[in-house]
Amino acid sequence: MARPPECSRRGASILTVVLFTVVIAAGNSVDVPSQPIELLTPSSSPVSPTPAQLPSVSAGLTTKRSGGGGDTSTPPSVERELDAARAAIRRAARRRRRDLGHGDGNVSTADSWFDAGVDSALLASVYRNPAAFHRSYREMERRFKVYVYEEGEPPIVHSGPCKDIYSIEGRFIEQLELLAPPAQGGRGGGVAAAAGVRTLDPARAHVFFLPFSVAQMVRYAYRPGTYDKTPLLGLVADYVRVVASRHPFWNRSSGADHFMLSCHDWGPEASMGHPELHANGIRALCNANTSEGFRPGQDVSVPEINLYDGGMPRQLTAAPPPPASARPFLAFFAGGRHGYVRDQLLRHWKGRDMEVFPVFEHGEHDQGRLDYYSYMRRARFCLCPSGYEVASPRVVEAVHAGCVPVIVSDGYALPFADVLRWEAFSVAVPVANIPRLREVLEGIPAAEVERMMQGVRLVKRHFTVHQPPERLDVFHMTLHSVWLRRLNFRLDQ
Ligand SMILES: *[C@@H]1O[C@H](CO)[C@@H](O)[C@H](O)[C@H]1NC(C)=O
Ligand SMILES: *[C@@H]1O[C@H](CO)[C@@H](O)[C@H](O)[C@H]1NC(C)=O
Ligand SMILES: *[C@@H]1O[C@H](CO)[C@@H](O)[C@H](O)[C@H]1NC(C)=O
Repeated sequence: MARPPECSRRGASILTVVLFTVVIAAGNSVDVPSQPIELLTPSSSPVSPTPAQLPSVSAGLTTKRSGGGGDTSTPPSVERELDAARAAIRRAARRRRRDLGHGDGNVSTADSWFDAGVDSALLASVYRNPAAFHRSYREMERRFKVYVYEEGEPPIVHSGPCKDIYSIEGRFIEQLELLAPPAQGGRGGGVAAAAGVRTLDPARAHVFFLPFSVAQMVRYAYRPGTYDKTPLLGLVADYVRVVASRHPFWNRSSGADHFMLSCHDWGPEASMGHPELHANGIRALCNANTSEGFRPGQDVSVPEINLYDGGMPRQLTAAPPPPASARPFLAFFAGGRHGYVRDQLLRHWKGRDMEVFPVFEHGEHDQGRLDYYSYMRRARFCLCPSGYEVASPRVVEAVHAGCVPVIVSDGYALPFADVLRWEAFSVAVPVANIPRLREVLEGIPAAEVERMMQGVRLVKRHFTVHQPPERLDVFHMTLHSVWLRRLNFRLDQ
């Protein structure tokens, strides 16, 4: 794995990317499953009941069986560390409840990198529980250790796309592998907040990463036009079989403390290649469709970020986003008729009112006065309908454009919903409500839109790709989601 970083080589040293969605509370109850990890919900109580499918730290830990046996049990120190982290997070969550009880609403954490200089009311509206999230994040920085399997060769393992729509696969693999543990010397030196998250000592690991790329499998092993995915399933099956036969860790937990990451549409299907990975593993996926078996309490929803040439479009990053007063358009969309959601959106709204509610079918805006990103920067709301799959890179683009994302989807588990209150900075509209879209958006008072835009500006940091990674960026938020899921169960000792 001593190879030069592919993704870092191209483009600027810092790439900015954002992801976003908004849910509106305009009386429309939206089918956006956003089950938070119970630990981090605002009113979390150590004894509160847990949503059925959501394993919870507080309400009885799910104890997973030891699959292996013999001397392969989890080292007690690993579980003890997790116990300490759980206790610290619970204390932070309780402290905040007390604060709220006194009515001062002061949820600042006194860590300026976290609080970002915004008022505590904004923190409290954007995060489910700012104090608990802050504590959990600090505990992650302090303790979390990931072991990355060394088996396999690029391009399918230890490598992934660095640009375009599936870039998160390549970025994440590379960023995790390059974050060398301190023992290895200074390679991760500039990455203070993350240094050491990767460990070379599996006995210290809380989770194990399977560093294959489904996008690369599709590129190198799939025969276009066949829709035959058996080669992908076979590669996943082989990889798991190899690491399970060479190391004791897979069998020890039947895969429960292992994770994969895929942004490709076929990531969920590829995970079926190994039944234990599919059933027990933590699957970090862009295609987080709850109707296709995505489990918000066990899997991780990853933002889809289109790094066209290896970075975010300059039009989105060059200047700060304009204020609401400089945005003449209520909402904007331009895109192809990909899938049933887009089809409905275009059928209802295409070309209806180009002065206020510009909706274009693919490419038409090019003949208009403005380019795509200028439209985004001049709209208060940016429509982010699902395409062929639930996730849309428009969400992150909207956030970077300072535009409130409107998530038009069914069954999309939004990224980082375990800590973020999406309804504070996005609007969710179920597909069935597409005919009412304009009415819903017009019904949101201007002050509320302003508030959402403040939220968008705050959460942008979570949807930004930095090279090397920085605190609270998309890499660390993804790691934090994995950390929370690992906190949600114990392994037998
Ligand atoms: C809010 O909390 C911070 C950090 O604990 C403290 O410094 C500040 O004085 C508090 N502000 C109010 C209004 O209580
Ligand atoms: C794990 O279990 C599989 C299937 O039973 C077996 O083939 C493999 O040898 C086991 N791995 C180890 C390290 O014992
Ligand atoms: C989500 O999954 C369901 C069930 O397979 C499917 O019908 C639906 O089209 C998917 N959503 C999108 C946007 O592709």
